[in-house]
Amino acid sequence: MRYPKECVLKNCKEVVIRPLEPGDRLLLNAFHTQIPESDRWLMNYNVMDTPIMDRWFDAVEKGNVACILSLCDDCVVGQGSLYMRDFGATSHVGRFRITVLPEFRQNRLGTWLLLDLIQLAMDKGLEMLRADLAAGIENDAIDALKKFDFFKCAELENAIKDDSGNHHDLVIMMKCLHRTWSDY
Ligand SMILES: CC(C)(COP(=O)(O)OP(=O)(O)OC[C@H]1O[C@@H](n2cnc3c(N)ncnc32)[C@H](O)[C@@H]1OP(=O)(O)O)[C@@H](O)C(=O)NCCC(=O)NCCS
Repeated sequence: MRYPKECVLKNCKEVVIRPLEPGDRLLLNAFHTQIPESDRWLMNYNVMDTPIMDRWFDAVEKGNVACILSLCDDCVVGQGSLYMRDFGATSHVGRFRITVLPEFRQNRLGTWLLLDLIQLAMDKGLEMLRADLAAGIENDAIDALKKFDFFKCAELENAIKDDSGNHHDLVIMMKCLHRTWSDY
């Protein structure tokens, strides 16, 4: 993929998508502080914890995490991360999470990031993509993924607790990947 990539959003704002660079730590920290706490709670790790983020950046360097950022006026406004295992029974499956700042949502930025993550996963030779989502909280994302041939492969009843302690079903969405888009 050719980066940096310029995209014009539905609201006519221009953003640039590019891979995370080692010097992006402060930019990413600033982004994380602007994400609503309820969204941060649903991430699988505490992005506000410095030692955890040290390990996350190590994983990026090692190649177990691939991250793309979208920037507007030199600030991060969206992030897509692809998580990969380099060994074992699920090493053919990539997991991902996309987060867009609330004021940039519903302008197709999430879709741009998703398309790039799918391409990235295909380039890495992954066979499947997986996203774990909270029913009732992330229904918009679940519906959006269906438009890109993700299917619900399982729903674990009450497996998620939101930041207020309420239980929600965990929806596992999967997509089978092909080596190139033309294989579809
Ligand atoms: C999910 C998320 C990444 C989507 O980002 P986004 O930039 O708003 O996505 P897009 O604008 O590309 O929208 C994708 C589709 O979802 C729909 N959509 C997005 N948010 C919606 C909402 N709140 N209500 C109704 N539809 C919505 C859009 O209409 C669009 O469908 P369309 O192409 O038919 O118009 C963003 O809402 C977010 O960061 N949420 C919190 C974290 C999260 O839920 N992550 C999902 C884990 S992968």
